Amino acid sequence: MPIDALPPTGWSRESVLSTLDGYRTGDANWKDGRTFSLVYYAGEEVKSLLEAAFLKCFSENALNPMAFPSLRRMETEALAIAAGLLGDPNAVGTLTSGGTESVLMAVKTARDWGRAEKGITKPQMLLPTTAHPAFVKAAHYFDVEPIWLPVRTDFRADAAAAADLLTERTVLIVGSSVAYPHGVVDPIEQLAALAQARGILCHVDSCLGGMILPFVEVIDGEQGRQMPLWDMRVPGVTSISCDLHKYGYAAKGASLILYRDRALRKHQFMSHADWPGGLWGSPSAAGTRPGGPIAAAWAVLHFLGQDGYLRLARQSLGAARAMMAGIAAIEGLRVLGEPDATVFAFTCDDGDIYRLGDAMEERGWHLDRQQLPPALHAMITAAHAPHVDAFLADLSAAAAQVRGLPAADDGQAAMYSMMGSLPDRGMAQELIVGFIDSLDDSAAA
Ligand SMILES: Cc1ncc(COP(=O)(O)O)c(C=O)c1O
Repeated sequence: MPIDALPPTGWSRESVLSTLDGYRTGDANWKDGRTFSLVYYAGEEVKSLLEAAFLKCFSENALNPMAFPSLRRMETEALAIAAGLLGDPNAVGTLTSGGTESVLMAVKTARDWGRAEKGITKPQMLLPTTAHPAFVKAAHYFDVEPIWLPVRTDFRADAAAAADLLTERTVLIVGSSVAYPHGVVDPIEQLAALAQARGILCHVDSCLGGMILPFVEVIDGEQGRQMPLWDMRVPGVTSISCDLHKYGYAAKGASLILYRDRALRKHQFMSHADWPGGLWGSPSAAGTRPGGPIAAAWAVLHFLGQDGYLRLARQSLGAARAMMAGIAAIEGLRVLGEPDATVFAFTCDDGDIYRLGDAMEERGWHLDRQQLPPALHAMITAAHAPHVDAFLADLSAAAAQVRGLPAADDGQAAMYSMMGSLPDRGMAQELIVGFIDSLDDSAAA
């Protein structure tokens, strides 16, 4: 029976928890390496540390920085650690609730900076088509017009096309390291140089890559490989976002944004001195700032340390590269571009990739679907390392099963093909909104 009212009398603790467990039985099982997004699992030892640290600060609130100096201290220390990892030990920043909030703050800051410093009232930002949709959200919320920068055939932003897309109204150029869809780093040096030459801001979105690329660089360095700079080491990069709750392995609700200097960061803050409720100030989008995620993020950074992150990066990168090599060896399958770290997409040249996604689903592997071009997507962590061979064996069998078949007319595959091929993208957007709108009906079933 669906529950649709506050129970007249409270349930027992046992009933609450066993009902909750019942609800959870249909959830994705992420511990066995068969899902490829949403959860970044670094093992039971890390999970239990996160839980312990989270619970210690479970009730505390970083909204008032005077009330809980411990949270302020943990935030400052986590930011200092990130600043060192991301190429500018003098950078200043804020912890946020997630990548989306960090991106929202980057765009809000750029808008307010452009208004204050350049008198730009109708700002634009230049955005690779692969940038995370959090930027579209930010554009919409803050009324900043997105100008789309195409990506090259290697899926990296086409920096050569960027100059022609800048106008007197551009306040911000965005690059990703790594971009979610294909796991590649954009040419940050070129994008930042352009921003610097024009006297505008450049934000690097390292929400996904920020906590693994520093260690991938070490591993690649051992093998004589070097990737182009992707962080605040690059002159002209004015801010960078990095999620601790992805490859930082923190509890959900922990990301950060760093700025080159304090003057720029001030454009992120909000204050209101005339509220009867008191003198009010807020560093980011959130009001209440839960203590748990801050404590857990601080804890895991110290628990893992450089050696722990390097060990996990070795396992994740080893697994990702073994999977990519295995995929490339399967007839008809191809990895898109040359992924720089542990995130990649692959497609199939003689069959329907969405059909392949469904065939893998039947075998218990849950890969996310992509479009433009159609592909399957994977984010690899150490949790996948023991399952590489099983994954490749199933993928090989699934590829043989769908090889040469036309696009599917049922299952998820058909839905994705239909959505991807709708010429009217406005209609595609409406269908997505309709789907979100219907979720409460299906949840009550
Ligand atoms: C590159 C990038 N930026 C931003 C985000 C948004 O992060 P969140 O889901 O934590 O809001 C993501 C999420 O996957 C991402 O990959």
